[in-house]
Amino acid sequence: MERNDLDLTTIIRGRRSVRRYQDRPVAHQHIMEILAAAGWAPSPHGRQPWRFVVLTRAEPKQQLAEAMGDEWRRQLAFDQQDDAIIELRRHKSHERITQAPAIIIPCLYMGEMDEYPDDDRNEAETIMAIQSLGCAVQNMLLMAYSLGLDGGWMCAPLFCPDIVVAALDLDPMLIPHALITLGYAAADPKRRERRSLDELIVRFD
Ligand SMILES: Cc1cc2nc3c(=O)[nH]c(=O)nc-3n(C[C@H](O)[C@H](O)[C@H](O)COP(=O)(O)O)c2cc1C
Repeated sequence: MERNDLDLTTIIRGRRSVRRYQDRPVAHQHIMEILAAAGWAPSPHGRQPWRFVVLTRAEPKQQLAEAMGDEWRRQLAFDQQDDAIIELRRHKSHERITQAPAIIIPCLYMGEMDEYPDDDRNEAETIMAIQSLGCAVQNMLLMAYSLGLDGGWMCAPLFCPDIVVAALDLDPMLIPHALITLGYAAADPKRRERRSLDELIVRFD
């Protein structure tokens, strides 16, 4: 279903997190349009401190799912989780990665950001870059939705960035921050309630 005749409010409200997809590929042209939308996000100094990894083939998705699954198993065992729960969670995450028709991994790239002599300002610079990475991802999700696709945000790479870099043979300057699955929804997901504006606005004047 094409949704690109929808107005912005409908696109913003319609975008939803999808975790299961139809077995239907995402057109290369759509992936490029989604990435182009990311590039139009606001960013500190206009430096676009993000780079994107795109996976559509089974082999690299499998490689990544295996590597991340091994690490997740290790972390859950460290938390003394039950073996059966560990296996179930690992399996679910593995399926989400391998069965997603397309994956985009947004990576933070601090190589062209400002550097300061003190930790506080370096931390602020990093936070700004991460904030803009979030903007870029939201642009991608909205564009995907308007193209009739859906996306799902997985935070897992943030918990094992080095594993993702090694599994995909990436430049070590890149810090994987998320894994965005893309495809055509297998079913309409349940949406979460939104807080009222009264609750969100803590002061207005
Ligand atoms: C930074 C961030 C991390 C998230 N990580 C995950 C995740 O690891 N797994 C998941 O299923 N959803 C994840 N989500 C999606 C949220 O669960 C989802 O956006 C929220 O429940 C609201 O649902 P909606 O996106 O359908 O409106 C994440 C969202 C954000 C913004």
